[in-house]
Amino acid sequence: MKKEVAVIGLGYVGLPSVINHAENGHQVTGFDIDQRKVDLLNQGTSHINTVADETVQGLLEQGVIFTADEQLVLHKDVYIIDVPTPIDDKKTPNLSYIQAAISMLEGKVKKGALIVLESTTYPGTTEEYLVNRFTSLGYEIGTDLFIAYSPERIDPGNTQSLGAKIPRIVAGYTEHCLAQAKAFFGEHVTPVSDLKTAELAKIYENTFRLVNIALADELQKISDNLAIDAGEVIEAAATKPFGFMKFTPNLGIGGHCIPVDPYYLTWLMNKRGVETPLIEVAGKINDSMLDYYLQKLEEYMAVNDKKLTDLNVAVLGITYKKNIADTRMSGVITLMERLKKLGINVVAFDDVLHAYDLETVEKIHCLKENYDQLKDFDLVIYAVGHDLYEAKKSLIVENSQLFYDLTTV
Ligand SMILES: NC(=O)c1ccc[n+]([C@@H]2O[C@H](COP(=O)([O-])OP(=O)(O)OC[C@H]3O[C@@H](n4cnc5c(N)ncnc54)[C@H](O)[C@@H]3O)[C@@H](O)[C@H]2O)c1
Repeated sequence: MKKEVAVIGLGYVGLPSVINHAENGHQVTGFDIDQRKVDLLNQGTSHINTVADETVQGLLEQGVIFTADEQLVLHKDVYIIDVPTPIDDKKTPNLSYIQAAISMLEGKVKKGALIVLESTTYPGTTEEYLVNRFTSLGYEIGTDLFIAYSPERIDPGNTQSLGAKIPRIVAGYTEHCLAQAKAFFGEHVTPVSDLKTAELAKIYENTFRLVNIALADELQKISDNLAIDAGEVIEAAATKPFGFMKFTPNLGIGGHCIPVDPYYLTWLMNKRGVETPLIEVAGKINDSMLDYYLQKLEEYMAVNDKKLTDLNVAVLGITYKKNIADTRMSGVITLMERLKKLGINVVAFDDVLHAYDLETVEKIHCLKENYDQLKDFDLVIYAVGHDLYEAKKSLIVENSQLFYDLTTV
């Protein structure tokens, strides 16, 4: 049945969510506090490189509304909350965006509505922040307001993970809440017994990745010490068709999920007096990789009779992973900051960055296939193997005085 749906937060998760619900025939309003994103969307321009402008234009033609006006999310049938859940410098969860989204909804939610939190967060959040708040406002959850948690699993840039195709976990505060959520998302969802189980399942998925990437990082150090190619070891192990999953070493995991979500768990467990040493060590290994790769880079320069300092360096690719324009917590950006602190002149190129990001991220250039300009640099650090760079890699190497490949070390 066609519903009036409001998606709160129009980022990497929220915008694809708008697309899915519009495709399912619902009347969707996308709300974001960032007026610049809303204006771009209303001009038919996507601020996310994994969503095409044509898709946004199609949404507008279909009647989707993009707005920063709180009044336009009044009395919807369904609210989907897709706001950020970052950590602060001390790796403490920052729930202020969820809090702000809920405060904004107060007084706007009609009886009978369904609210689904999709943001990743620690077990207990949905009950603490949504159920308790709306109960205190006089709603009876499960009778006249339905609250569910359904973690988003999208992997931007990964075409296998496009919204509706990914299996979805759903939990409701009550049986009725779950039934409402299942009716909305479709019967193919996997229901779990309570909100906390769904919240923990999502964090466990991402913690699993952190721990395994840390193991691959450690393999890199072991292989280097034994003068073995870590990449070849990983590819060889990955030929085993069962019981092994391929993860690769990393300069430092970036993005909004893997370097963030596990700390929601360690923070909660720390508060409850439970130790989580494996997760903490994995986080420390991840944090150690930048120094490790810097040291390897210095060794590479020494082999070429050069010192890292006083160099003119080009960095190619600055996003946290290939083919997406997201620079959040990108290890490459931290690497560039470290190089600059050493007095090195660093010029960054990234042709995947979107116009929106180029305005936000300072002084990033596009190569625009003009590989010749790389000759001006003493060293080219190939940091992110975007497909468009991989396709021209031999040209990039040819035009580099010295070429250091971070995508294969
Ligand atoms: N990016 C991913 O790959 C991914 C995948 C799965 C889950 N998640 C989770 O989904 C959530 C959202 O992540 P994202 O990557 O889409 O973040 P994002 O930063 O790309 O988008 C969040 C959007 O919310 C907006 N916003 C902030 N406060 C708001 C408010 N009070 N009301 C309305 N809009 C508000 C921001 O302006 C931004 O546009 C996070 O919890 C994240 O951990 C992310």
